[in-house]
Amino acid sequence: MKEIIQKDFEIYFGSDVLEKLAEILINKEYSKVFVLVDNNTKNYCWPILSPYLVNFQLIEIESGENHKNLHNAEKIWTRLQQFQADKHAVIINLGGGVISDLGGFVAATYKRGIDFINIPTTLLGMVDASIGGKLGIDLHALKNAVGVIKNPKYIFIDPIFLNTLPVNERRNGLAEVCKHALIDDKSLFEKLLHIEEKENLDALLFQSIKIKVKIVKKDPFEKDLRKSLNFGHTVGHAIETFSLKNDSNPLKHGEAIAIGMICEAYMSAAIQGLTSSELKSICKYFLNRFPKYKGKLPENELIEYMRNDKKNEEGFINFTLLKKIGKAKINCHCHDELIIKSLAFYKNL
Ligand SMILES: NC(=O)c1ccc[n+]([C@@H]2O[C@H](COP(=O)([O-])OP(=O)(O)OC[C@H]3O[C@@H](n4cnc5c(N)ncnc54)[C@H](O)[C@@H]3O)[C@@H](O)[C@H]2O)c1
Ligand SMILES: [Zn+2]
Repeated sequence: MKEIIQKDFEIYFGSDVLEKLAEILINKEYSKVFVLVDNNTKNYCWPILSPYLVNFQLIEIESGENHKNLHNAEKIWTRLQQFQADKHAVIINLGGGVISDLGGFVAATYKRGIDFINIPTTLLGMVDASIGGKLGIDLHALKNAVGVIKNPKYIFIDPIFLNTLPVNERRNGLAEVCKHALIDDKSLFEKLLHIEEKENLDALLFQSIKIKVKIVKKDPFEKDLRKSLNFGHTVGHAIETFSLKNDSNPLKHGEAIAIGMICEAYMSAAIQGLTSSELKSICKYFLNRFPKYKGKLPENELIEYMRNDKKNEEGFINFTLLKKIGKAKINCHCHDELIIKSLAFYKNL
């Protein structure tokens, strides 16, 4: 078992972390243990976790981003109340980013805050969503519009849960692993270039997790360094929003930011000194793994979405670009023409 021990949270990684969880639950003497699942994690992941728990109350919601909402937050608060959860109760979030964002938000606000524990079951959850303390829900169509920042007490990451994860969800998470490599660790990127789709990822996962922890530890409230995690996300979020509105089978987050990373790598080559061979290998990585997006990429509409991005300051669209593979540059601005050229670059690949 590998561990990362911080002042306000602890991460355990490996195939024996659930034993560690059982030990901690006994020692902590929580008054009640609640486990939040969605219908998929109840089917696939709960049978793996349940032997390690004794007294618990299961709370189930439907899976999917459109269930990360106030209605479900209220449903969970109500269940906690019905079962007389007090300040010493704990919520275990067993699921992907939807479950950890929602369950964490509910825990952080119930009776002004009870402990919560994340057991991420998607790749994206393991390397990204379960770490860093950003919690929240969507408000109507606005993603993550209401939320708080608070860390879980513990994060238990057991790659066993990935065995049942669909291929497209695995790819989704790999896009964020690759983002971590591009902003911070060239050697990780080189390893990623050579792994096969079904290969065991454990070592790479832990490397990726360490990058996220290092960044959020130095800048928990996104004043500067944490912005480097936004690489690919300015263009990517705009494409994700467009696709959600227009496509019958919309792009997933990882698919949208993969396109965003190609466009922003192009911009990095134009104004930040990323070399053309680095740009080429970034394009190669994503094009080999993600199907090319067939939908339209209407420049003006996408730029409009970018202008409404909550990361912007002083009226400028805020980009995180790359100086080279492994080195990000935050707070970059660029002309609309370059954004348009980057979208055309992707279309013509
Ligand atoms: N808080 C953060 O810092 C942060 C960072 C990135 C993303 N997010 C949020 O995370 C969410 C996306 O996370 P996600 O991609 O994990 O989505 P998700 O939680 O919706 O999970 C994806 C799908 O996989 C299913 N699933 C989960 N584990 C499974 C398993 N082991 N086997 C089979 N199926 C399984 C789920 O039921 C769901 O259908 C978004 O809401 C996003 O805003 C948050
Ligand atoms: Zn992301």
